Parts: sequence; C-alpha cells; structure tokens
Amino acid sequence: MNKKVLVTGGTGYIGSHTVVQLLAANYSVVILDNLCNSSREVLNRIELLSGKKVDFVEGDIRNRDVLQTTFQLHGIDSVIHFAGLKAVGESQTQPLMYYDNNVNGSVILLEEMAKANIKTIVFSSSATVYGDPGYSQYKEDTPVAPINVYGRTKLMVEDIIKDLKNSDASWRAALLRYFNPVGAHASGQMGENPSGIPNNLMPFVAQVAVGKREKLSVYGNDYNTPDGTGKRDYIHVEDLAAGHLAALKVLENQSELLTLNLGTGKPNSVLEMIHAFEKASGKKINYEIVARRSGDLAEYYADPTLAEKVLGWQAQLGIDRMCEDTWRWQMNNPNGY
Ligand code: NAD
Ligand code: WQD
Repeated sequence: MNKKVLVTGGTGYIGSHTVVQLLAANYSVVILDNLCNSSREVLNRIELLSGKKVDFVEGDIRNRDVLQTTFQLHGIDSVIHFAGLKAVGESQTQPLMYYDNNVNGSVILLEEMAKANIKTIVFSSSATVYGDPGYSQYKEDTPVAPINVYGRTKLMVEDIIKDLKNSDASWRAALLRYFNPVGAHASGQMGENPSGIPNNLMPFVAQVAVGKREKLSVYGNDYNTPDGTGKRDYIHVEDLAAGHLAALKVLENQSELLTLNLGTGKPNSVLEMIHAFEKASGKKINYEIVARRSGDLAEYYADPTLAEKVLGWQAQLGIDRMCEDTWRWQMNNPNGY
C-alpha cells in the first residue's frame, strides 16, 4: 500500500512543488488548503504534471470537523504542514491573525493528529527563527531569537512540537528551516503566485522583467558586503521539495526529532541575482537603489552540512536555473494562475 500524506497548504508555492514530487515517488496525497493565498487552478497543474489525481479538501487547519473527517476518510500516515501566513510586514501589523493562524492552527492540527493516532509531521519552519546572532553562517545550534512576529510564530510551533515529542516519544517530527526559496517547476506550469505587490525579491524582479512593474527598488547598497547589497541563501523550490521527501523517508526509519537548515550554503547579493535574471531572461531589469528596508540583515546563509548528513540530501540547482525557471513560469503565466 502506498503511504498517504496529508499536505496542509498544498496548493501554495512550496506545497505544490512538494506534492508533485510526492506523487512521482508514489505517495498518495491529500491536500488541505483554505485557498487564502492560493488558487484552485494549482490542482489542475499538479494533475497535468504528475498525470495523477490528487484529493483536495478545501478547508482550514483550525476547523476540527474538517480535520477529523479528513483523517477518518483517508487513512493518513503522515502530515507535511505548510499551511500558514508568511508576510513579515503584515505579521507586525496583524499579530493576532498570525498567532491564530500559524500557532493556534498548528496546535489544533497536532491535537487532531494525536486523537487520530497520526504522529509523523514535517513542519515548515524558517531561517527567520535565528534573528540576528552577529555572524552570517547559521548552524542549527545558532541561537534563536526572531525579530518579528512571523518568526516568533515559527519558533513557537517548533517549541510546541519539541514539547510534544518530549511528552510522547512515539511522535516523529522534522522541523525544516528554509532559507530563501525561489524558482519554479521546470515546465513553467507551476511557480510562486504572490497576490498584489510582491514582498520578496525574485517575484518582484520577474514582474519587472515581464513589464508588469516599472522598476525594482534595491534596499540599500551600503551594507558590509562586496557590492554593498544584501546577501541571502537562495534555494530552488525543487531542491526544497526534495528535502521534504528525504525528511519523510528518514522519519519512516528513525524517531529522533530533526531540526535542519535547508539551504545551499552559498549566498548571493541582490545585484548578483539581478544580473543572473538578466542573463536568463535576456531582459534588462530596471532598478534604483533606495534606503535599507527595516529589519534586513547584510548577509545570512545556511550551514547545510547537518541536513546533508542526516537526510543524504543536497541542494543541486544554482542561481542560473533558479532564474531560468522563474522566467519560464513568469512568461507563461504573466498574471499568475
Ligand atoms: P504560500 O502562501 O504559497 O502557501 C501556504 C498555503 O497555506 C497557501 O496555499 C494558503 O492558502 C494556505 N493556508 C494558509 N493558512 C491556512 C489555514 N489556516 N488553513 C488552511 N490553509 C491555509 O506559502 P509558501 O511560500 O508555500 O510557504 C509554505 C510554508 O513555508 C509556510 O508555512 C511558510 O511560512 C513557510 N516558509 C516559507 C518561506 C518562503 O520564503 N516562501 C520561507 C520559510 C518558510
Ligand atoms: C531578499 C533580499 C532585500 C525586495 C524573507 C522573509 C523570511 C523568509 C524568506 C519566510 C534582501 C532585497 C527585496 C525588494 C530588495 N520567508 N530586496 N528589493 O527578507 O531575506 O526573507 O523571505 O519564512 O522570513 O523575511 O527575502 O526576498 O524579501 O529579500 O532589494 O523589492 O532582497 O533587502 O537583501 P528576506 P526577500
């Protein structure tokens, strides 16, 4: 029998790429998503790319009835939990909405999992949990001290899952701290679909390239980095998805709680990303240097060696592929899904 995975947030950006890989690896998949930041059209793309049907439940992780019915109907073995809100700026102005959705939602999900005796979870955490430790290469034991509400919701859920595991050793959990996910499916059929003005660099760059936005604002060129712009560890969403499958496999065979960085370990600056995108697209990216964005650090990136060792996984795709795939997605879908 194929193992059955519930993917919360499975129509979202990272979730959708992970679902396609799960189906290719012969997992059965049920997606639970309330579509607050994604589109039903994603389901058609998943079926097109995988050649398989995927079960979809439109619902909220905070709805116990929906969870109970889904667990009863589908015989779920494990959960990959992507569902959550992720805009740092919005989290500062709407903290209660973030604590309710991300923290309360996760507590309800875990409670219902426990009741249904489903005790394997892979959780989407974030490098945002680290805050500003005063150096730029982060290992998993780098002190955690998030500087925004969004980051605190991620750390709280990490702690909740750790406490749960301490109380009941039969839980199996992976807390995956992503760095900067970018890129799209190589087909150009699936990618990141931000609503409104993108908060993140690469979707904004792609929209400038395709003519949807006039120019990019580069937030500061006076950082202590070689070209003065901020450096980040961009990781291709397909590599990230593969990391989830690897984590699930490891959890099938051992019961240690895993806390792992998922990054490439190779940071790039804003200007390097702009130039890579110009090369991939053949388009000039209009930009101007503006003031620093509050809360930004000069540079941070993963030490990915623990994930490599524990998961037998390593990011494979570099920034050229990240930009080529983003461009293909943006060109094919100038208005998103
Ligand atoms: P996304 O917004 O594309 O996907 C999240 C999905 O969850 C969306 O489809 C949304 O509709 C759904 N959702 C939100 N709240 C829900 C709820 N209460 N019930 C049911 N569904 C709900 O985001 P993404 O980029 O794919 O991120 C996935 C996860 O990874 C999130 O938890 C995010 O915080 C985390 N993460 C993202 C990044 C990033 O830069 N993209 C980095 C680190 C961590
Ligand atoms: C990257 C670089 C900006 C936009 C965020 C979240 C983090 C995680 C990933 C979820 C920085 C610069 C950006 C623009 C710019 N998400 N930039 N002009 O801030 O590293 O991380 O997404 O967990 O929690 O904070 O990503 O893409 O916003 O910025 O110059 O219009 O691009 O200053 O150096 P960030 P980003």
